[in-house]
Amino acid sequence: MAVINAADWTKKKAAGGKITMLTAYDSAFTALLSQVEGLDLILVGDSLGMVVQGHDTTRAVKMEDMVYHTEIVARMSTGIPVIGDMPYHSFDSPKEALENARRLMGVGASAVKIEGNKPGVVSLLGKEGIPVMGHLGLLPQTAEKFKVQGKDTEAAETIYRDALDLEAHGAFSVVLECIPRDLARRISRAMKIPTIGIGAGPDCDGQVLVLHDMLGLTQGYLPKFVKGYAQLDKAVIDAVQRYSDEVKSGSFPTDSYSYH
Ligand code: KIV
Repeated sequence: MAVINAADWTKKKAAGGKITMLTAYDSAFTALLSQVEGLDLILVGDSLGMVVQGHDTTRAVKMEDMVYHTEIVARMSTGIPVIGDMPYHSFDSPKEALENARRLMGVGASAVKIEGNKPGVVSLLGKEGIPVMGHLGLLPQTAEKFKVQGKDTEAAETIYRDALDLEAHGAFSVVLECIPRDLARRISRAMKIPTIGIGAGPDCDGQVLVLHDMLGLTQGYLPKFVKGYAQLDKAVIDAVQRYSDEVKSGSFPTDSYSYH
């Protein structure tokens, strides 16, 4: 298991290079991500509720689901640290958070991610040697509507203060989701630990996207901040269509795909 040391990530930020993170949930994609040069982190996000399980929100994801998927991804990742997302209601108290975070660390996570500003949870996990990535801005576990956060002064100040609070309590980095670019820049400049943005503009210290979104596998609505780097849905549909047509017409399998 790759070890996450908060000081290394502060140094990485100070050195000025950008940090790259993507989500993964299974062995096939983790094996592919492991071959990418320079990918810094893999997040087993609770977005698996939408991406893998077909729910409308992340709230249906259970601790057992996160343990199952984190174990698979951690076993397949060759050298890239894996972060296990703590699902809804798995960190309602520091004690509960510690028990659940230990389960993710026990199956190979190098750190855990927690939505919202939970100083008691972050400092207890830190004391117990579990690195924590914070997550502020749009919080899918509790948001009523998926929309840009921190647009008015009061909301922006809350997010700003929460970020500094997470840093003070020992988080090694913070995801900033769906907030105005200027606010993300202000937070990134004020902190020594790296910010990882998703829909928070280019001034964050790193970026994360949901893998299935950026590969063009997600069907339906995608937010503005998602750049499609591939259109794998078309490739999959085309391949399966040809397979189905060939089996039905008798042109697959030919003799060359047979044993003698
Ligand atoms: O669950 C997830 O994939 C996430 C990322 C969008 C940051 O939290």
